[in-house]
Amino acid sequence: MKAQTPMHEIDRDDIQGLLRSGYGHHTEACFLLLRIKDREAARAWLAAAPVTSAAMVERPVGTDASIQPEPLPETVLQLALSSAGLRALGIADDVIEGFAEEFVSGMDGDANRARRLGDVGASAPERWQWGAGQRVPHVLVLLYALPGHLDPWRRTIEQQCMAGFDTLACLQTADSLDREPFGFRDGISQPKIDWERQRPARDDAQLAYSNLSCLGEFVLGYPNEYGGYTDRPLLDAQRDTQATLPRAEDAPDQADLGRNGSYLVLRQLQQDVRGFWTFLDGAAGGDTDQRERFAAAMVGRTLQGVPLVAATKASDAAASSADLNAFTYQSDPQGLRCPLGAHIRRANPRNADLPAGTRGIISRLIRTLGFDEEALQQDLVASTRFHRLLRRGRKYGAATLAESLAGPPGAPVGLHFICLGANLARQFEFVQDAWLTGTKFDGLTAESDPQLGTRIPAPDGTPTDGYSIPQPDGSDRRITGLPRFVTVLGGGYFFLPGIRALRYLAAAH
Ligand code: HEM
Repeated sequence: MKAQTPMHEIDRDDIQGLLRSGYGHHTEACFLLLRIKDREAARAWLAAAPVTSAAMVERPVGTDASIQPEPLPETVLQLALSSAGLRALGIADDVIEGFAEEFVSGMDGDANRARRLGDVGASAPERWQWGAGQRVPHVLVLLYALPGHLDPWRRTIEQQCMAGFDTLACLQTADSLDREPFGFRDGISQPKIDWERQRPARDDAQLAYSNLSCLGEFVLGYPNEYGGYTDRPLLDAQRDTQATLPRAEDAPDQADLGRNGSYLVLRQLQQDVRGFWTFLDGAAGGDTDQRERFAAAMVGRTLQGVPLVAATKASDAAASSADLNAFTYQSDPQGLRCPLGAHIRRANPRNADLPAGTRGIISRLIRTLGFDEEALQQDLVASTRFHRLLRRGRKYGAATLAESLAGPPGAPVGLHFICLGANLARQFEFVQDAWLTGTKFDGLTAESDPQLGTRIPAPDGTPTDGYSIPQPDGSDRRITGLPRFVTVLGGGYFFLPGIRALRYLAAAH
């Protein structure tokens, strides 16, 4: 019998490395979408698959020169399963039903979900290349490698998988990681996860925005920002007689199938790079500086990643991610520096629980009860800490913006968007639906995310294809007629299990 992990300890050998690292050194990557064709062969492979753990990719913290870090593994494998995959493996229905409803029904699960996520028109699941109907992957294998090592690694894994799986698709990625296809520096802002578990679970005194998130926001089986444990399948101990699974912190007599796992969202987002820049060129009347200013206003950062709201100089573009990320929107309530609807402002409004205001009990009461009209508006986007995403996407297609613009029209270019979170509804779906796709945000109406919007008019006919850039005189500069720049080509929800949970699933009958 394996020793149980004490409550307060985190078993880094059990957690997949993707929760700890974006594998920035592993510039080569591809993602295999597999369907199970032979259950026993699939189980046998999953039982021994060479999954990379957090412990294998962690770097020592601090400056002790005597500590020599272990060399990074040349190759990395991460593994996730869809609910269709769990069914195909023969996992009992009541166990599957212990997972989140969104995961169980799947990203393509119902028309209502598709509408909320903006998966309509050209992005509708019935038009996807993969992710709907018979093209829902059962298993997602993420392969990463240091430069020059991916091809043999991929061949090895494909060889191993041949007996148990059919390959639905192999999603290729571009090797250059710092810029996304429209040309903006990417990968700057990420939540900082409280791996040391020092943040109090449920911090009612947290009134200012903080980038630190409770472990349980991203890893199942630990307290989240509400101080509770996110629901996940907890099993009677008799269903785990080998004690393969860790026991639940909040229910120690139960085996925790979720612990050390997370949910993974994958969406293939095709970007019309030429369309984006051609449109902005037209809106700017051919003025290239103005075109770049419009582009930055849509994202909330310059192409070099400098946040529009911060008093950072353009020459600070070489600054570290931490420097480029040290700001909130408190000093720019009208959106005069960074428009209210800019992509990064929608995706993470950087508000705390209560709208900003002067200190003092009366002021706090007024704000809490919502008597202050301005505060009410801010309330719509408050409590960012419950809606953070750990982004792990990779771009595909041309390596640079110049190559994209020179390439043939319609060439495959875009983002394999990946994010991790312990609660699909409260994190990915909320951000995608309420903040990015929603046409009412922070006092704005009739527009959605300037990069991601579907541009399909609201049910009452209101157009959604505008973009407002607030001006100092109180008016808005409106850009209208935005076309669709991003189309969804596929997507799915997956469970990224703890490694013990993976072995359990491979053996469970
Ligand atoms: C093709 C589609 C997309 C493009 C081109 C894109 C581009 C960008 C860029 C350039 C940044 C700024 C760099 C940074 O802060 O790291 C950013 C930040 C971000 N994006 Fe996206 N993005 C896309 C899709 C999405 C989607 C689908 C979501 C969520 C559902 C999302 C959520 C975020 C978040 C949370 C941030 C960080 C905001 C912050 O903390 O300030 N993005 N994105």
